[in-house]
Amino acid sequence: MEKMWAGRFAGTLDKEADDFNSSISFDSKMYREDIRGSMAHAAMLSAQNIISVEDADKIIAGLEEILSDLDSGKLMFNLDCEDIHMFVEAELTARIGDAGKKLHTARSRNDQVALDVRLYLRRRTNELIELTKKLISVICDKAEENKDAIMPGYTHLQRAQPITFGHHLLAYASMFVRDIGRMEDALKRMNLSPLGSCALAGTTYNTDREMVAKALDFDGIVINSLDGVSDRDFCLELMSAYSVTMMHLSRFSEEGILWSSWEFKFIELDDAYTTGSSIRPQKKNPDMAELVRGKTGRVYGNLMALLTTLKGLPLAYNKDMQEDKEAVFDSIETLEKCLSVFAPMIATMRVNRENMYKAAQGGFINATDLADYLVRKGLPFRSAYKIVGQIVAECIAKKTVLDELPLEAYKAHSELFDNDLYTDISLETCVEKRISAGGTCAASIDSQLCHIRKFLKN
Ligand code: ARG
Repeated sequence: MEKMWAGRFAGTLDKEADDFNSSISFDSKMYREDIRGSMAHAAMLSAQNIISVEDADKIIAGLEEILSDLDSGKLMFNLDCEDIHMFVEAELTARIGDAGKKLHTARSRNDQVALDVRLYLRRRTNELIELTKKLISVICDKAEENKDAIMPGYTHLQRAQPITFGHHLLAYASMFVRDIGRMEDALKRMNLSPLGSCALAGTTYNTDREMVAKALDFDGIVINSLDGVSDRDFCLELMSAYSVTMMHLSRFSEEGILWSSWEFKFIELDDAYTTGSSIRPQKKNPDMAELVRGKTGRVYGNLMALLTTLKGLPLAYNKDMQEDKEAVFDSIETLEKCLSVFAPMIATMRVNRENMYKAAQGGFINATDLADYLVRKGLPFRSAYKIVGQIVAECIAKKTVLDELPLEAYKAHSELFDNDLYTDISLETCVEKRISAGGTCAASIDSQLCHIRKFLKN
């Protein structure tokens, strides 16, 4: 296939160099965006009398046909074309003749690709937001079912204080709500059209960039043409938002993996989301959760790769920038798959309340409540804290727990202790008394659920 620039060249491009240079194998994903952008551009060119109405009509009709043929599979990408932009233009010209050759007036592939990537990322990120919302909704349902399932809350992976499983799950829901916020913020900032920046300096034609921007649902235009073609910040911002979402999924995965181990047995993942071992018949492995945790690394890697690619680039377009697409596409597809498998994995997991409760009974996780008991009876917190520390040490030595230590033993530490201490340090009381805003009691969980579900509705 003859190159568009063949006129200036005496020789042809080496075959291997041609393959190396080509991006159509991956940027063809943006064919819808490329075609939509070209339609808006053609309409603007004719509105501004840069091309005739007849030519614009032919171009738009031709592009519509190409779009539907690609959608239906009637038309295949020609991998001999360097990229999706060249492919669409060549196909259009083959179909409608000379009018097709007018489409590229007053634009460059540099602003075209910047436009396509923005349009593509906008669509795909909105899909990721929907998937994240689905996950949040699944988490909310699980949390509601388990708002009275008592488990140990941990710090340093040491049992710390009793909480409910519902409360623990809703911590993740809050993280994913923020993740959506980060994606939406980035979308807002990037929703400006670079088209019309042309190669780098703008154009001598009397274009109407605002018209194109409006037709493509942008909030406005990029105001500097050099910036318009050089900027890939929006890729970085989104990839960073995706990375944080992956980090949250990865922490959640890690907990799921721990909780489903024989050592914890707090949950059991459904057969649909676990695998067996080829040699050990007893095994049930949390592969999906592990893969999500593992794939987090590649999403971080994509972000680092593009940051590094961009850091030394002079303005404006450099071919290095073609590297943006594989990185950001891979991050999108990875996050998409992770979210898609994660939501049903959480929806179908079984919760072993008994084991959670049993774990909560060990580890003196009601010790803070015992100290608070003494504070209510008039002791300063630090003194109460010290006494309870001594009682815990005594329990450990006697191989017993706070709930079973007899009252006389308590009284030996402080006369303030009475029989009511036992109800005060029961796990149920410990949880239900955490009434501070955002705490683990059932009323707080209800209010968290209400807050998050309201967010999902808007
Ligand atoms: N395939 C190119 C990319 O993805 C399109 C822009 C090409 N521009 C150029 N001047 N070579 O970045």
